[in-house]
Amino acid sequence: MFSDKDGVRFATPEDVGRYRAMRLRCRTIADISCGVGGQTIYFANECEQVYAIEVDPEKIAYARKNCQRLGITNVEFICADALSTEAIDCLPQLDVVFSDPARPASENMRDINSLQPSIPDVMAAYSAKTSNFAFEAPPQLTPERIPFDCEKEYLSLEGKMNRMNLYFGDLKKCGVSAIALPSGGRIESAGEAPLIRISEEPLLYAYEPEESVERAGLLAQMAGEIREHTPDISLFRIDKKRIFLTSMEEIDHRLFKNRYKVLNTSGFDITAINTYLRENDFKAVLLRAAVDPKDYWGIRNRLEEGLKGKRKAHLFLKGDIAILCEEL
Ligand SMILES: C[S@@+](CC[C@H](N)C(=O)[O-])C[C@H]1O[C@@H](n2cnc3c(N)ncnc32)[C@H](O)[C@@H]1O
Repeated sequence: MFSDKDGVRFATPEDVGRYRAMRLRCRTIADISCGVGGQTIYFANECEQVYAIEVDPEKIAYARKNCQRLGITNVEFICADALSTEAIDCLPQLDVVFSDPARPASENMRDINSLQPSIPDVMAAYSAKTSNFAFEAPPQLTPERIPFDCEKEYLSLEGKMNRMNLYFGDLKKCGVSAIALPSGGRIESAGEAPLIRISEEPLLYAYEPEESVERAGLLAQMAGEIREHTPDISLFRIDKKRIFLTSMEEIDHRLFKNRYKVLNTSGFDITAINTYLRENDFKAVLLRAAVDPKDYWGIRNRLEEGLKGKRKAHLFLKGDIAILCEEL
């Protein structure tokens, strides 16, 4: 993409841009803080007419250039403050208004009120044009910290938390949802979450859920859906950061980020684990535990001492219990 340094840093990743454009597909859409056009180009593929508004003349020049390079002809560029009458008065009725607002480079705690332009200001300024709004918001915000009647969609990309989308009006499908890209696995909140059994030990298989599911608070609901065909599915908390789903039967789900076979559960005895790994054709072991970073390589080198095989293990620690797994 043509861009300045800033523009490319904030530009929407390709998979996210494509997904959002599909979800917001309509006839007329305004992308009202379009930057260098990272999202605009995908709207142009899915919508009949796009209005791209940006206050920074340099950024909108890049957005124009990016569209030209791709042969896109259905975008009208407006260089103005998106909240000004100068920008709004030249727009027709719109099906959807989308905004990926600017936010402070750093904040002690992300705050929905520090987005620029702000969500309430955009909704007030465009209320005569549409009632269907979509916003990008910081994914660090928990659902309770978003004081609007909207769908809060947590999105992970390539296994990591990446974005949050807020949908208003007819675009809202539920209270909270989670999606993983590129798999496209998705879950929506539906009433009270079911009670799921908590297991103190992992069963034969362990599954690491996508971060977006946890962030959305939808893990129990996901487990409830899986329980319909895998009755023994349980939650297994490893440490403050990690919670797995576990079952005796091997299963798959588009909202699993990683799937493991549990090989061995034992005390955290480095010599015994190293012997097991040597005798079972292992070459490497990834230590996936909350250990002091200065101790990490010391422990890992001892675990891997003399390994000459081919297999790769993952070692999780729940207190002083070591859980040795291999990816499926
Ligand atoms: C996060 S970036 C948008 C990135 C864009 N979605 C992309 O994928 O390339 C936010 C943009 O909002 C613009 N902006 C901030 N306040 C604005 C306003 N009042 N009117 C229009 N644009 C604004 C900033 O200049 C910045 O380029």
